[in-house]
Amino acid sequence: MDYELLKAEVENMITDKRYKHSLGVVESAIKLAERYGCDLKKTMIAAILHDCAKSFSREQMMDVLQKNGLKIDEVTYFETQLMHGVVGSILAKEKFGVDDEQILSAIRYHTTGKKNMTLLEKIIYLSDFIEPGRRYPGVDKLRKLAMKDLDEAMIQAFDNTIKYVVSLDSVLHPDTIEARNYLIMERGKTNLDYNSKELAKKIKEWVEEKNGFDVEIIDVSELTPMTDFFVIASGSSTINVKAIAEYVDEMASKDGINAISNEGRQGGRWILIDFNSVVVHVFLEEERQFYDLERLWSDGKKL
Ligand SMILES: [Fe+2]
Ligand SMILES: [Fe+2]
Repeated sequence: MDYELLKAEVENMITDKRYKHSLGVVESAIKLAERYGCDLKKTMIAAILHDCAKSFSREQMMDVLQKNGLKIDEVTYFETQLMHGVVGSILAKEKFGVDDEQILSAIRYHTTGKKNMTLLEKIIYLSDFIEPGRRYPGVDKLRKLAMKDLDEAMIQAFDNTIKYVVSLDSVLHPDTIEARNYLIMERGKTNLDYNSKELAKKIKEWVEEKNGFDVEIIDVSELTPMTDFFVIASGSSTINVKAIAEYVDEMASKDGINAISNEGRQGGRWILIDFNSVVVHVFLEEERQFYDLERLWSDGKKL
């Protein structure tokens, strides 16, 4: 399985545009593999081969499937676009002699994703979305996110796909839904594993390290199903408010906890970071007094 040979073969099988795209996928996949520690050779082979069946007609693909005695599910049967993943993995094995199951699976599932994906499967799926030739609103953000947090980027990519497919009035593959559900539930677990009270206390420390003041932790777990604790804090200027919020986000990330949202309100005079079990509000003093969350949530216990 020589990468250069495979590359030359693929060049003859697909259009120039598709070939360029495949080289782009290789480029992005290498970056992700280096970032997350995935086998480079496997990554490059899976990336260059992922669309090898893309130029096949529906009939040709059905033919390959039939010859290999492979039955496909009804959604894949209905949506020709989904077929080239499965067919590509057969070609990789039969035509190119790839016998590595991880590579074959990454090719197979690059069209739909699936529950509990391997690192290589995620890298190929995502690289298909963010390769340098892709141009769509939000692609740069997704590229950055992919280097920061692979699973969050996967969720974003699934969200984009699902929205797009719905906008086309087409069918969603159940594997895509399962893939997304799985990641969302895994994300929830990470946040739950971390005792929310401990997290709230740590956040207080982080805020104070950045000169935030009047930090209050309020236990709202009895009052709302949405979260367990509010951490409310003040910063001395909009710059300070932003610096505090960025620092909290960064420190939490280092602990493997990712905010599910982070929004600046009132022109950055109030920043809300939602960690699911803990929600952080960083205010400018004036805004804090105006919105007076402490009074609104005065039935909550202060820690
Ligand atoms: Fe593809
Ligand atoms: Fe592709």
